[in-house]
Amino acid sequence: MAGFTLSDNVPHTPFYHYDMRLLGETIDAAINHSSRFGYNLHYAVKANADKEILEFIAKKGLGADCVSGWEVDAALKCGFAPDVIVFAGVGKSDQEINFALDNDIFAFNCESLQELEVINELAKNKNKIAQIALRVNPNVHPDTHKYISTGQSESKFGIAYNEINKALESVEVLQNINLKGLHFHIGSQVMTMSFFEELALRAVEITKWFEDKGCKIEHLNMGGGLGVDYDNPMDNPITDFANYFAQFEKHLPKDKTVHFELGRSITAQCGELITRVLITKETATGSNYAIVDAGMTELIRPALYGANHKIINLSAKSDELKKPLYYIGGPICESSDVFAHEIEFPKTNRGDILTIKSAGAYGAVMSSNYNLRPRAKAIFDYK
Ligand code: LLP
Repeated sequence: MAGFTLSDNVPHTPFYHYDMRLLGETIDAAINHSSRFGYNLHYAVKANADKEILEFIAKKGLGADCVSGWEVDAALKCGFAPDVIVFAGVGKSDQEINFALDNDIFAFNCESLQELEVINELAKNKNKIAQIALRVNPNVHPDTHKYISTGQSESKFGIAYNEINKALESVEVLQNINLKGLHFHIGSQVMTMSFFEELALRAVEITKWFEDKGCKIEHLNMGGGLGVDYDNPMDNPITDFANYFAQFEKHLPKDKTVHFELGRSITAQCGELITRVLITKETATGSNYAIVDAGMTELIRPALYGANHKIINLSAKSDELKKPLYYIGGPICESSDVFAHEIEFPKTNRGDILTIKSAGAYGAVMSSNYNLRPRAKAIFDYK
């Protein structure tokens, strides 16, 4: 993992720095470990939709997983072919559905009984047959943050297991949709492989239910969710794709094409947020703060999920790597705008350059203009 290195002229901070070589190696690893089983990979555009990143990933041959009409549009413009684009989302507008229909995407991942009717109606207006997969909620509870856990029965995502019979009845009646596959997604940043094995077993069970009813299932889409190492990104820049795909290979039937929608595991580790220390200060209670020029506007994950991102002071001399404990805070007028709490950090001064690692997924793409701050620029490093 190369990462950003200091030179005399650091660009205007804060900015995202992308190690494109690592991105390439990560994609190669994912392709290498999945292609031995004939699996199809789609990149989850929501993780990082930067044009340069999307074009790079499209050239590597992955498909795209989109959750809005705008993502479908971006994917098409960046070189993904329509027949490798899947479109999920618990609420798709007519405008978005029409756009995807006009572009003949591979499949809509449908999340409710009502959506089946809406897509059928809109496809009928266009005299088309929409290709669909049913996103079935598998009721698997991964050990991840509750905000990014999607596969348990009480979540808003997917068609409830006890409604799959109704979904099948609709599919049989509605003339302008064609059921091709089943789709699942249990959640994100899942590190315990047994949850993926549990998902594979549920998928086998649910597929069998459909096939016993005489319904041919051509493809299984197992979603995304594979986590990355936020604690030690430099030691583990590429996540354990081999073990992940092996969980599915153990159980999934061999007569179907299998698809995955990987986001974080593809782009998280190639991106870092480079920021400058504006102020150092101490609170009345003795907490030692370094306030930096990046905030939750550039990277909201710590504020929103309490997520941990490794932070390194690139300006510090290595022999200074000692206590006191530091808080690294952003400049935004919100108490949650803190990147790290009580971390061991070198003595830090105004003007020091810090890097916040593992920010390539759900970083820039979730940024906002809150406090009227401009969006951070990005640097793509191919060295
Ligand atoms: N497929 C579906 C249907 C999804 O909802 C997601 C992510 C993915 C695939 C890709 O999951 P991944 O491989 O990236 O785990 N903003 C949160 C993550 C939200 C994930 C939403 N869905 C975060 O910063 O942790």
